Amino acid sequence: MSAVRFDYRGERVVVTGAAGLIGRALVARFAGAGARVLAVDVDADGLKVHDGAPGVDVLAGDLAREDVADAVFERLRAAGGGLDVLVNNAAMTELRTPFADIEAGVWDAVVAANLRSVYLLSVRAVRYWRDAGRGGAIVSMSSPGGSRAHEDQSVYDVTKAGIEALSRAIAVELGGLGIRANCIAPASVVGAVRPATDIPSGRTTSPEEVADAALFLASPAAAQLNGHVLHLDGGLHARLRTDPSQEQLRD
Ligand SMILES: NC(=O)c1ccc[n+]([C@@H]2O[C@H](COP(=O)([O-])OP(=O)(O)OC[C@H]3O[C@@H](n4cnc5c(N)ncnc54)[C@H](O)[C@@H]3O)[C@@H](O)[C@H]2O)c1
Repeated sequence: MSAVRFDYRGERVVVTGAAGLIGRALVARFAGAGARVLAVDVDADGLKVHDGAPGVDVLAGDLAREDVADAVFERLRAAGGGLDVLVNNAAMTELRTPFADIEAGVWDAVVAANLRSVYLLSVRAVRYWRDAGRGGAIVSMSSPGGSRAHEDQSVYDVTKAGIEALSRAIAVELGGLGIRANCIAPASVVGAVRPATDIPSGRTTSPEEVADAALFLASPAAAQLNGHVLHLDGGLHARLRTDPSQEQLRD
């Protein structure tokens, strides 16, 4: 159980990819902090994990589709509330294909699920906040691949770099209206925390730690953070070599 405490009572939060590993923790932590959460995922069965959870409503749909993005905002309107926080967490995460073998259809599907979806919801969120004359917070899930390359995940990494660039653009264009867009780049989130020799902290990251970072970034405690990428990785991003024995020593 996390010791981190934030107060989201009265706030309305959208979490995408809500049926997935990190999405489930995001929904639980925002709802546990008092928010009313709209949990969205293409996996209708997977969303059943939220059945009966207080303060949580669900919507199933493919977020690469514009009509599904519209449906999210129609649901928010029908529920009588606005939007305070958008968490762009949905992504196709499983693909492992050497760049030389990627077909255009696969490239387009990953870009649509991972990046077009973030555009479709984020543009609606910022229009809503701008027209309502108020601020709001977007937190998007990037990856270490947003700034460095995984093997065999070129298109995934491209979408994460795109999400970071979009967050900077939103920060620069809309920060004056009190609209903030930040990213989390977590490494090695695998469910149960286990030892990891390539991570300076010596262990993987828990889904709840990612959720806590999202609660922080969306909160007034992060009011002056905008266009930022939070590397939540136990120091992995700071490390030059994963095999320190390969450091070159002078004779
Ligand atoms: N797990 C990690 O180590 C890790 C590391 C870095 C970044 N991330 C990022 O964190 C986020 C969550 O990762 P996860 O490990 O929980 O992944 P996951 O695969 O468990 O969950 C992703 C969820 O997104 C949903 N989704 C995919 N395409 C969708 C679409 N078009 N419309 C609606 N929903 C869609 C899936 O159904 C799934 O429930 C992703 O953005 C991922 O890239 C994860």
